[in-house]
Amino acid sequence: MLTIDLTGRRALVAGVADDRGYGFAIAKALAEAGASIVLATWPPALNIFLNLLERGKIDDARRLADGRLLEFEKIYPLDAAYSTLEEAPSEILENKRYREVGDFSIEGLVSRMRDDFGETPVDIVVHSLANAPEVKKPLMETTRGGYLTAMGVSAYSMVAMVSRFAPRMRAGGAFLSLTYMASERVIPGYGGGMSAAKAALESDTRVLAFEAGRKHGARVNCISAGPLASRAASAIGIIEAMVEYCAANSPLTDPLAPTEVANVAAFLCSPLASGITGSVVYVDKGYHAMGMAVAPGARPSG
Ligand SMILES: NC(=O)c1ccc[n+]([C@@H]2O[C@H](COP(=O)([O-])OP(=O)(O)OC[C@H]3O[C@@H](n4cnc5c(N)ncnc54)[C@H](O)[C@@H]3O)[C@@H](O)[C@H]2O)c1
Repeated sequence: MLTIDLTGRRALVAGVADDRGYGFAIAKALAEAGASIVLATWPPALNIFLNLLERGKIDDARRLADGRLLEFEKIYPLDAAYSTLEEAPSEILENKRYREVGDFSIEGLVSRMRDDFGETPVDIVVHSLANAPEVKKPLMETTRGGYLTAMGVSAYSMVAMVSRFAPRMRAGGAFLSLTYMASERVIPGYGGGMSAAKAALESDTRVLAFEAGRKHGARVNCISAGPLASRAASAIGIIEAMVEYCAANSPLTDPLAPTEVANVAAFLCSPLASGITGSVVYVDKGYHAMGMAVAPGARPSG
C-alpha cells in the first residue's frame, strides 16, 4: 500500500492559535503521518491558545486516530510582519503581548529552532497565516498603509520564511502556503488588499520554487483552499455566505472539511510529491472550475 510516511520528520506550522483553522488541521494530518510538530503563533493570540491547550479545551480536536493527543514539541511566538527584531517598531516591542516572549521575528524563530534542534532543525514549513487590517474595506477605499501591511504579513512573510529556512532544511524539504481564489476572480468583500496579497503569494510560489529548488533542493507549493469559517475568515464578515455559496455552486456539494485540505497538505509535503513544486493546487470541491452559478432548484446535474 502507498502511505504518506513522515516518520522522523519535523514540521513547523506557522499560523495556529485555535483548533478551527487550516493550520491546526494540517498540523494534525502531518502528525497522523508520523511527523513531529512545532507551531509558531502570533503573540497577541499566544496566551489564549496556551490557555486553551492547558485547560484541555481542544483535547477532542487534538485526538489522533490511534487515540494519542496531538502534541507540540514547541510553540514559538511569531509575528510574520517582521523578518528581524530590529524591524519591529517600539510600540510593538513595548506592547504587553510582545515584550515577554523574546524574539518573535522570523529570524528569531529560525535561531530558536537551531538552539532547540540543531543546525538543520526542520523538514517541512507550512505558512498558514494572513492578515489585512482593512480587509472589510473595498479595494478603492483601502489606504496605502493597509494594503502594504496585507502584502507584508500575508505574502512577503513567505518569501522571508523560505529564504531563512531553506538553507536550514534537511534533504527533501518542503514548503507550503495557503491561498484563496480571490487572487484571480473577484470575491466582493475580500478587501483591504488581501486579493492582491494572495496573487503575490501564488506568483512567489513559482519563483521561490525555482530559487529554493536550484539552491537548496527544497520544494514550494501552495493550496488554494475553499472557504472555511475559521477565526481569521470570520473577520472578513461574509464567510458564512461564502461557504454557503460555494457549497450550492460547486461540482461537489458537501461542505469542504478542513481535513480535506490537510490531507492534501500532508501529501504535498511528503516524498510522494517529490515531483511537485511551484504548484497551486485547488482543494475547493471543484468550485474553481465553474463559470456560472447554479440556479436555485436546478437539477443536481446542472
Ligand atoms: N478560511 C478560509 O476561508 C480560507 C480560504 C483559503 C485560504 N485561507 C488561508 O488559510 C490560511 C490560514 O487561515 P485560516 O482561515 O485557517 O484562519 P486561522 O485564523 O486559523 O489562521 C490565521 C492565523 O494567522 C495568524 N496571524 C495573523 N497575523 C499574523 C502575523 N502577523 N504573524 C503571525 N501570525 C499571524 C493568526 O493568529 C491565526 O492563527 C491563511 O493564509 C488564509 O488566508 C483561508
